[in-house]
Amino acid sequence: MSKAVKARAREKVDLLIVNADELVTLAGDNQKPRTGKQMREIGIIRNGGLAVKDGRIVAVGKTPDVTKSFKAENVVSANGKIVLPGFVDPHTHLVFAGSREDEFQMHVEGASYMEILKAGGGILRTVRDTRKASLEKLVDYGTETLDTMIEHGTTTVEAKSGYGLTTKDELKMLQAIQRLNQLHSVDVVPTFLGAHAIPPEFSNDPQGYARLVVEEMIPKAAEKGLAEFCDVFCERGVFSLEQARRILLAGKDSGLKPRLHADEMSSLGGAELAASIGAISADHMLFSSDEGIKAMADKGVVATLLPAAAFSLMNARYADARIMINFGVPVALGTDFNPNCWVENQQLIIAFACHFMRLAPAEAITATTINAAHAIGRAKEIGSLEVDKKADIIVLDVPNHKFLGYRFGVNLVDKVVKNGRIVVDREASRGEFRLLEEQKT
Ligand code: NIG
Ligand code: FE
Repeated sequence: MSKAVKARAREKVDLLIVNADELVTLAGDNQKPRTGKQMREIGIIRNGGLAVKDGRIVAVGKTPDVTKSFKAENVVSANGKIVLPGFVDPHTHLVFAGSREDEFQMHVEGASYMEILKAGGGILRTVRDTRKASLEKLVDYGTETLDTMIEHGTTTVEAKSGYGLTTKDELKMLQAIQRLNQLHSVDVVPTFLGAHAIPPEFSNDPQGYARLVVEEMIPKAAEKGLAEFCDVFCERGVFSLEQARRILLAGKDSGLKPRLHADEMSSLGGAELAASIGAISADHMLFSSDEGIKAMADKGVVATLLPAAAFSLMNARYADARIMINFGVPVALGTDFNPNCWVENQQLIIAFACHFMRLAPAEAITATTINAAHAIGRAKEIGSLEVDKKADIIVLDVPNHKFLGYRFGVNLVDKVVKNGRIVVDREASRGEFRLLEEQKT
């Protein structure tokens, strides 16, 4: 009997990724988000490989062990490269119309974010543009953004409404988010953020607007199944702590899980509120108190930190990620993509987190994968490379994970696999720029 026949037949799969210098699995007890030292334990397999079938991961291990049991026509070599779970972006304002580059210039020249908002610009400017835009246009703009996000390795995003601020326009935004989830390979997780600003019609009656959010918008969004989370911009001069509590509890009653913009520009007690109502995540947290951070640690609330938003505020202040990690708060990282913070790239967020918040690259990787998945309630499906999880995988053209944050400002993505299918292949196009000797004149 020949050797080939004697060997157990190898199972045929759709895709093999082999020979990765580092396969960063994030495997482990992922029932809860990672805290403290666990944030550095990213489960590296050297000379790693994995097998994919029907959109799922079916094997992860050393390359020879994987290839002993599995074969495929489609084999990707990640030699000299690293393999990671696709990035999860747990905080974005994905859908909006227009842009605010003229306000950016005012901001550079000294006007603050709140001054611009109080003068009817900022969020309110984007509300005017978004109200005028059709659902189809919003889907077109969102599609372009998702294209850029996936090219940079993001395979799942959270997306908020919040630039409609009427029942009709908030539902239009949520419908755009729903369509984007259906039409694009990136998975999009919807959040209702009707409490993002007080619209001009209610400038003399902010309580009236909060009532509209509670009594009309939340029930409609929930009844139509258009949102999974409810968010509030809890900030001095926007929604007070009391209003935020009322809105988030009303959301909870309707089945929308609470999350919030907390302590971004002032110390209001957003972290304490997040802990007391059982929010899944509190986001920004530049001014959170030690008590609030401890309360979040006790309740397991994720701190979703958004260093690009802090960068955009131009105040040279960042959330104190180290204190949060020391206190045992699970930290996640997101872009906060929005018209004031136009960034689609989680790799740049990792660089900001390392440089401005002193996260180690391994901690920042945890924060953009498994902890980000926890921050949007998706950790059973995504955020790590483990058998039975979705085959959302990225290959980065660097020799080890410490290059993340270290090499920045360029796109390190080589390939993106979404639901088991290669959807981005930059290696394939790279040769186009290179001239042969005889082509040079
Ligand atoms: O997360 N702070 C409130 N919301 C966004 C900004 C939205 C905007 O300026 O359009 C944020 O920073
Ligand atoms: Fe935000």
